[in-house]
Amino acid sequence: MEPNMSYPSYRPRRMRATERMRTFVRETSLQVTDLVYPLFVEEGSGLKVPVDSMPGVHRFSPDRLVEEVDELRELGIDTVLLFGVPVHKDAIGSSAWDDGGVVQQAVREIKRHDPGFCVITDVCLCEYTDHGHCGKLREDGSVDNDATLELLAREAVSHVHAGADMVAPSDMMDGRVGAIRSALDMAGFTDVPILSYAVKYASAYYGPFRDAAGSAPGFGDRRGYQMDPANSDEALREAYLDIGEGADAIMVKPALAYLDVLQRVTEAYRFPTFAYNVSGEYALVKAAAERGWVDERRIVLESLLSIKRAGACAVITYHAKDAARWLAEGDA
Ligand code: PBG
Ligand code: ZN
Repeated sequence: MEPNMSYPSYRPRRMRATERMRTFVRETSLQVTDLVYPLFVEEGSGLKVPVDSMPGVHRFSPDRLVEEVDELRELGIDTVLLFGVPVHKDAIGSSAWDDGGVVQQAVREIKRHDPGFCVITDVCLCEYTDHGHCGKLREDGSVDNDATLELLAREAVSHVHAGADMVAPSDMMDGRVGAIRSALDMAGFTDVPILSYAVKYASAYYGPFRDAAGSAPGFGDRRGYQMDPANSDEALREAYLDIGEGADAIMVKPALAYLDVLQRVTEAYRFPTFAYNVSGEYALVKAAAERGWVDERRIVLESLLSIKRAGACAVITYHAKDAARWLAEGDA
């Protein structure tokens, strides 16, 4: 449609006047099946530890995870994205590919309890390295891209071996989707998809997550491997590469400050694209809602709907449980 095209008799308010008319012309919907809930699993037993900077979010030990899975099921949520909080950390993050590691234990527990529940695992090294960076370091402290690929591939294979339905590499090394794809294929896991964090920015919005996962870098920052917030052409190149290497779905992260990028990526490739509504985005809403400054329900549903409108096929969000409750009440 030409921007200056005019329909002199068209009055949009006629189709806005009643809820019935509004539903006829509604272009986007938010459903509980769009939602993925991030879950932190901490090594140990009997643990359910609240995360201070993320009210309502807890870290669970593997044995207590199933309580949360049952609650999610009851709300109609059937997918989690798992993050590990290990006891042992070292220079290369070796507990990441330990078949008895915390994520591997958690996947087995969930699958034993509810085999149909969908488990996606985050594949990265920052939770497992003593320096908190997402890969193996060189002597000068920079992350060695190619030496990291093999470690990520081992981690992914170990997660799938434990029963993960999909792996989600979040490290931002070049070439990791290809490396993980061939490692999975060689291990016989040709049918297990990869959800790539293709477009992941070096963002201040990850702060609360790093408290929750204990994964803040011990020195420096992640700008040498995560994307510059000033760029969006580069997002198209990142997505192009990951699709070419065999990603089955891609992700844009964070979501709300990057809706323009999400829209460009989905329009350019028409490829399944998830959006990650990250920890800092959650914390901002929670803090304002606690003070009574915003209507939490309306803010959250509007934000999640906007992420769908920008093109996301699914939304990873800490608001998932609340949103599911509100959607069930029929208040989208
Ligand atoms: C690990 C990882 C991070 C997040 C997801 N995977 C943190 C980071 O890159 O520093 C952030 C998620 C959130 O903030 O909710 N690489
Ligand atoms: Zn990382």
